[in-house]
Amino acid sequence: MKSFVLSTLAAAATATELLIPLYQYPANNGGAWSPIEQALTANPSLTAKIIINPQNGPGGPGQGLDDPQYVAGTKALASHPNAQLLGYVHTSTDGGVTRCNRPYSEITADIRKWSAWVDAGIAIRGIFVDEAPVNSNNDCVAYMRNLTAFVRTDTASLHFATPRLLVFNPGGTGALQPYYDMQPDLIVGLETCFTVPAKAGGDYDQCPASGGYERYDHDGVGSSIDNVLFPAVGKANAARTAVLVHGFHDFNGPSANLSATGAVLTQLVQGVVQRGIGATFFNTAGYHAFTDGPASIGAVTSVLRAANGN
Ligand SMILES: *[C@@H]1O[C@H](CO)[C@@H](O)[C@H](O)[C@H]1NC(C)=O
Ligand SMILES: *[C@@H]1O[C@H](CO)[C@@H](O)[C@H](O)[C@H]1NC(C)=O
Repeated sequence: MKSFVLSTLAAAATATELLIPLYQYPANNGGAWSPIEQALTANPSLTAKIIINPQNGPGGPGQGLDDPQYVAGTKALASHPNAQLLGYVHTSTDGGVTRCNRPYSEITADIRKWSAWVDAGIAIRGIFVDEAPVNSNNDCVAYMRNLTAFVRTDTASLHFATPRLLVFNPGGTGALQPYYDMQPDLIVGLETCFTVPAKAGGDYDQCPASGGYERYDHDGVGSSIDNVLFPAVGKANAARTAVLVHGFHDFNGPSANLSATGAVLTQLVQGVVQRGIGATFFNTAGYHAFTDGPASIGAVTSVLRAANGN
């Protein structure tokens, strides 16, 4: 009896969610997102946090909530019990070079716009903060502390249901402990690519041909988490950390030289789950295409669900 309870708790504690940057336009009245919907339906035990991003945020006039295709697409997605929709906002006015320099009143205006989606019957569950800080420069700790308190507790101007979700995306490792201390649901501690720069696809997979990224697991399964992520953010933060990997095609070069096959995808996803990472995403392409294999949305959801043991 006792060991049954313990193993149940262990399984619950290690379940890794999916975090999907869904920056694709919901063409055909949301029909473009039907592969995502099918994957949610096929894997009901898997929770998917899905980032909605019409135009570097909720969108201006004619976009987002003003666009019937966005309304149809997000309503359909939100109707899945295992989907949690997050609204995209960003902190930088120079594409992320300087973090937290976007006027606080602008970013909170975007967050209020996302709350208007809730008023319109679309269950946005919280906020994804892109271009989140990687260190404490530029008064970022105060900025993010303000933002966290606003999203989590302001019930006068924000109508998100509780629990209100909050994800920070610094896009890489750094001095993140002050941000973990704010207890967001997740921080994306590693957002990178699998394939070698020579095979990088640019717009296709968000992997720069110039390289400069952590070639995912180039020293073997789990090596990027063990050798790059954990030394920077600490294993104790694993459950609040997300790992996103784009460009899962071709191979990741010496020394591991893993080829992008279904079997390797399974191993890499298992490596993430075994390390207690809170959420992950693998994609063959980038933020705009989800059906290309081997890491299609259907394959990734079923492999992750299996790795979670349910
Ligand atoms: C944080 O909020 C306080 C109170 O609203 C405000 O005075 C301060 O300027 C804000 N700080 C930042 C960095 O946004
Ligand atoms: C790595 O693997 C790819 C194909 O999987 C192969 O074409 C390439 O030659 C290999 N490179 C090395 C250095 O072994």
